[in-house]
Amino acid sequence: MALANVIVVDHPVIQTKLSELRDYTTDHRKFRALLDEIASLMVYEVTRDWPTTPRVVQTPMERTTGRVLARPVTLVPILRAGLGMADGVLRLLPEARLGHFGVYRDETTLSPVSYYKKLPPDVAATEVLLIDPMLATGGSALAAVAFLKGAGATAIRLVCLVAAPEGIQALHGQHPEIPIYCAAVDRQLNDRGYILPGLGDAGDRIFGT
Ligand code: PRP
Ligand code: URA
Repeated sequence: MALANVIVVDHPVIQTKLSELRDYTTDHRKFRALLDEIASLMVYEVTRDWPTTPRVVQTPMERTTGRVLARPVTLVPILRAGLGMADGVLRLLPEARLGHFGVYRDETTLSPVSYYKKLPPDVAATEVLLIDPMLATGGSALAAVAFLKGAGATAIRLVCLVAAPEGIQALHGQHPEIPIYCAAVDRQLNDRGYILPGLGDAGDRIFGT
């Protein structure tokens, strides 16, 4: 069943790479490469309806009017695992500026504990891509969105890889206007807040910890 404002990027190449990522025998080197590739591929879908503005260009033949993105872009990885998607997105949006939001889940309560925050000063006037491979309880994404909105950001999109229904519900319960882009909506969380079937602990798999 389609979920409102959840866009599952169901491209066969992305799905192939996601299946390789899920495989527990995929080591951190291959995991990083696959995540980077998926992040790049997702950019086309995530940015498809961004506004553009006309720009006159002089070709070698004549003047014409092209189109360019209307607003600058801010990319905000949720540390640590969001870093694994940042280079892939930046490859297609090299002008983007980077903010950072550092947060980890308390292993017992699963509540988010934030430890680092930094944004470009003009974030309010930009398109914001919040990136994190995993949306589980939604606590980390909610903390990041509260921070972004507090800084004035309005055009926020969440780009993840695997989303749990619980996390989608939590985020859209408070921020239904934020589109959630993902490669899969998985079945559920287990009693330790891990996504099933999921891919395990994304940060540990990216960084080999
Ligand atoms: C993971 C993941 C998300 C968060 C999702 O980070 O990268 O940020 O869990 O879970 P939630 O939706 O229940 O908040 P983790 O807390 O493991 O930190 P790390 O990326 O630094 O390893
Ligand atoms: N964070 C992860 O890295 N994996 C999960 O399954 C849930 C939260």
